[in-house]
This record gives sequence, C-alpha cells and structure tokens, in this order.
Amino acid sequence: MRRKVAAGNWKMNGLKEALAEIEALKAINCKSCDVILCPPATLVSAMVTAAGDSGIIVGGQDCHWNETGAHTGDVSAEMLSDAGAGAVILGHSERRADHGETDAEVNSKTQAAWRAGLQSIVCVGETEMQRDDGETLVIIGGQLDGSTPEGATAENTIVAYEPVWAIGTGRTPTLDEVGEVHDYLRGKLVARFGEEIGNEMRLLYGGSVKPENAAEIFAVSNVDGGLVGGASLKAVDFASIVKAAS
Ligand code: PGA
Repeated sequence: MRRKVAAGNWKMNGLKEALAEIEALKAINCKSCDVILCPPATLVSAMVTAAGDSGIIVGGQDCHWNETGAHTGDVSAEMLSDAGAGAVILGHSERRADHGETDAEVNSKTQAAWRAGLQSIVCVGETEMQRDDGETLVIIGGQLDGSTPEGATAENTIVAYEPVWAIGTGRTPTLDEVGEVHDYLRGKLVARFGEEIGNEMRLLYGGSVKPENAAEIFAVSNVDGGLVGGASLKAVDFASIVKAAS
C-alpha cells in the first residue's frame, strides 16, 4: 500500500508574505498522505520554520550535483538540507527547457540529493509534438532510465509524470492516457529495481491538477498523488488537493 503524496511546486513565485498560506495547510494534518511544498530557495528556511511540527515536508526545486564550489547562482543539495529541506524536485521540464538539463545531469543531481539525505522527485514528460507523433512512452521511458540512478528506492525517490503540454495550460490527458503512462512507468520500475522497490515507489501525476480534477486523477491505478504548480499557491486550492490525496 503506497502512501499518497500531495506535492506543491511554487516555481518562481512567493515572497515572505506568501508563507501565511501554509497556516491553513498545517491544520489539515494528513495522516494518510505526505504533503511536500517546494517554495523558491529563498523561502525554504522560513517555510521550514513556519511548518513547525505539522509534518509538511519542505523541498527545493533543483540542486547542483556538487556539494560546494565555483557555481555562481547554484544551490547544492547539502545547502537545501542545511536549510531544513527534506526533498527536491529534479529534472522538471522547465529546467530541462530553460537550462538545457540533460538526463545525465538530472541523474547526477539525484545522486547529490540522496548524498544529502533528500528525497528526490524526478520528473519526466513528453511534449505535445512527441505525443502527437506517438512517442510518449519511448520519450518518458528514456527519461526515466537516464535520470534515475542505480540505487533508487521508495524512500529516496518519487517519480513525477508531467506531460509538458499539460503544465500550466489547464489541459490534462484523459484518465486512460494517464493510466497508460503510469502503468508503463510502474512496469519499468519493477523491471529495473525489482518487485518490492518497483511497486513501492510513488508515481505522481503533474500538469493542471486542480481541486476539481484531483480526486479522479488520484484514483487512477498507479497514480500515487500529484505534483501541483499553480493550484499549490493558494492554500484553499491546495488543501482540497491534499484532501483528495487523503
Ligand atoms: P501546473 O504545474 O499544476 O501549474 O500545471 C505543474 C508542474 O509544473 O509541476
């Protein structure tokens, strides 16, 4: 039985005043799911303090593969951990598109996350053109293989399927399409990491998850929750998504 996950990705949104949003989430205290919130790096430490003992896990949105060094503007996994983070999103399609991140780099970053004791949320997803060309499974399969290091376990890794064309667009795949991809990813995880680990690892869906569609998406087989962008910025919306994961 896999615990569901409601993960919020604030992307490049949120000043200190936005931390007030998490007060409403603290009240939910989901016993049957994990709530992860990934604010911009500037707010990680303050959000950890604000989250207190609520059980909300605070995460980063990226990390460098090195622990320290001459990498202006980058943040290491150890720094996120030092700030109190417990997780980090890696290989989000916006990082892959905006910064040219490759599967090999995401793989290195994932190893860095584990080194620092962070749970990695590794993202994969096809573009609209790739879906139209019937390449969805080949693309996400390749990304999963390349981005996920040997040694992945249900404790150190969560995989998020996020079709690029569904992110921030209000469009979502049909439930059958979500199920097809998640079944495929589950099969690949089992084939590579074995029955136990492959079946225990959580698989999230991301891309225009909203209070209105969260419950039906989370009910699809092999969907263990969601990675939520826009709808995680407002506590009332994210709270109903957390409830859908409960
Ligand atoms: P969205 O973003 O929920 O705003 O579509 C999801 C994501 O990019 O993680």
